[in-house]
Amino acid sequence: MNKPNIAILGATGVVGGEILKILEERNFPYNEIKFLASARSAGKKIEFKGETHTIIEATPEAFEGINIVLASAGASTSKALVDEIVKKGAVLVDNSSAFRMEKDVPLVIAGVNDEDLKWHKGIVANPNCSTSQLMLPLKPLHEYGKIKRLIVSTYQAVSGAGKEAIDDLYDSTKASLNKEIYKYKKFTTKPIAFNLIPQIDVFCENGYTKEEMKVVHETKKILHLSDDTPISCTAVRVPVFVSHSEAVSVEFEKEITPEKAREILSTAYGVIVIDNPEKSEYPTPIEAAGKDPVYVGRIRKDLAFENGLALWVVADNLRIGAALNTVRIAEKLVEMDLLCHSERP
Ligand SMILES: NC(=O)c1ccc[n+]([C@@H]2O[C@H](COP(=O)([O-])OP(=O)(O)OC[C@H]3O[C@@H](n4cnc5c(N)ncnc54)[C@H](OP(=O)(O)O)[C@@H]3O)[C@@H](O)[C@H]2O)c1
Repeated sequence: MNKPNIAILGATGVVGGEILKILEERNFPYNEIKFLASARSAGKKIEFKGETHTIIEATPEAFEGINIVLASAGASTSKALVDEIVKKGAVLVDNSSAFRMEKDVPLVIAGVNDEDLKWHKGIVANPNCSTSQLMLPLKPLHEYGKIKRLIVSTYQAVSGAGKEAIDDLYDSTKASLNKEIYKYKKFTTKPIAFNLIPQIDVFCENGYTKEEMKVVHETKKILHLSDDTPISCTAVRVPVFVSHSEAVSVEFEKEITPEKAREILSTAYGVIVIDNPEKSEYPTPIEAAGKDPVYVGRIRKDLAFENGLALWVVADNLRIGAALNTVRIAEKLVEMDLLCHSERP
């Protein structure tokens, strides 16, 4: 196939908007493009590549003739539409959590486990944003030293929770400075302005949140780690608009000195090392926003483990954590000639 017909499902959302920007920046080759959202947005106009397009309601018929669907419309929408999408012969590249842990669905970070794309059956899942940015630096380190244990603490931007959450941070900060009462739309449990919230998604029976368990399960699936590899995560929402940060402690089977880690990461795909403590040089969310790489700094020996390494990992959650990886997966599917698929059982 030369150029695919593509549909952007969730084109009016935060991630959808980022996907459109990235398709344009990377000059993604396509034949036909459709912009899909809910009935609420049908008929509204959207700008893309200097032209005005009309948003179409995401009905099953809307996927007729489409080869790739880039979806960021939430798990329930993807679940409701997947059968029709796949039956019509398209590949669904999905940003939601709907299919990530299904056995017959590859969970892919482009540049990390592209080979897994070969066994897709019409669906490819994009990992959770906090897992995504972790995989690019961890993969080459794992190849060198083999991960034995992993502990991650996340500091996650509000844009990871969609449009309403961004509005909440902006409006509640203004209200708070003006000593006014603000009625939250997304952060209804605890205020986000001038605060931190140690809960992202709902709690599971084991006391961890679903977001934290996504990091545990998805990391094992992407890096092909054994089920009993000890991994734990604490996920915290912080009053930052864009870019997630992560404090990471890894224990390896083989020693990786900080110097060796810097050397490995300096040539790793999609990673940039900013690590000059004497000059206070390390990545921060503001510097990573709007950029493609995953930035790594504060590389040092983790004093708590024998072959331990501590890292600070920062990336734009809307790009590598969602939209950029979605577009990179679509590019790989075309490049690797993987758009034809057998039907799901
Ligand atoms: N934000 C992130 O960093 C991030 C990262 C990774 C994954 N994700 C996932 O990506 C998805 C979207 O996140 P977001 O932050 O972009 O949310 P958002 O800003 O709230 O956008 C949601 C999009 O989905 C569309 N939609 C909702 N219900 C629909 C339906 N029934 N049929 C068709 N379209 C429908 C909305 O269309 P209308 O405008 O018409 O309502 C909108 O385009 C979620 O599954 C989220 O978990 C987000």
